[in-house]
Amino acid sequence: MKRILFLAAAMLLALSCAPKKADAPKALVLYYSQTGTTEKVALAIAEKTGADVEAIVVVNPYDGDYNATIQRGLQEMQTGAYPELQPLTSNIAEYDVVFIGYPVWFGTYAPPIETLLGNEALKGKKIVPFCTCGSGGIDTSSKAMAAKLTESEVLPGYGVRAARIDAICAELDQFLKAGGYVEGEAVAVEEYPEAVAVTEEQAAIFDAAVAGYAMIQAKAETVAARTHFLGGQEYLFTAKDVNNGATMQVNVLVEEGKEPVFTQVYR
Ligand SMILES: Cc1cc2nc3c(=O)[nH]c(=O)nc-3n(C[C@H](O)[C@H](O)[C@H](O)COP(=O)(O)O)c2cc1C
Repeated sequence: MKRILFLAAAMLLALSCAPKKADAPKALVLYYSQTGTTEKVALAIAEKTGADVEAIVVVNPYDGDYNATIQRGLQEMQTGAYPELQPLTSNIAEYDVVFIGYPVWFGTYAPPIETLLGNEALKGKKIVPFCTCGSGGIDTSSKAMAAKLTESEVLPGYGVRAARIDAICAELDQFLKAGGYVEGEAVAVEEYPEAVAVTEEQAAIFDAAVAGYAMIQAKAETVAARTHFLGGQEYLFTAKDVNNGATMQVNVLVEEGKEPVFTQVYR
């Protein structure tokens, strides 16, 4: 019996990964998630930091069909007619830090977040964006958020591809430690060295990482490599789109014994 209890406690510890911080600022996690991916990150952040958490609910929900969502989302962004939200039950005024989570739509935060950002109570708060995406968008969406929330402090954010949702436990630990939201020191990460022309072997790593992702049809040109904080190699490629010649930056991770995966694209 004791052994079972011990194993259960060890499993719980392994799942929660990093201890909550005793003197952490009072934090709230607000998130919008259409298909449940961002919700996983939101709940993990709340669990790890001890923050309160609330989902943003759209009065007239997106109906779940991908094409209909694309059409409606595009129209909302083009016309500026952003969706109405159900009132929040949380009182933002009670919090120091607000984590704001969303799926990336059309390169930035999804339209319900535009409505949320109009909430006056966010003024003066520390805001931590986080997102899930198909290929990337934490940089562009964070910048858009900072431009919109000129009277708040928009801090570095966390983004993860939906295809890598299983990586969030370790990555969130690193991110939350680095931001001082949980106890412990983040693993020191070396800077990327200067980029150099890719070798054939590195070009093959790039090709393997983006294979099967139709939105990236590109040829790697330069690369910088460093050790990833979990071990393995992390690469920052610049690549040229074979269709329109545009340059993109692609981060690729190669963990020991695993196939290369791209972690984000920045266009
Ligand atoms: C309307 C729409 C637009 C999207 N646009 C992008 C995009 O520009 N870039 C990207 O990387 N992913 C894009 N995606 C993919 C979503 O960001 C991704 O599937 C996300 O993890 C969904 O999160 P959710 O399950 O919390 O709704 C888009 C998805 C939809 C439905």
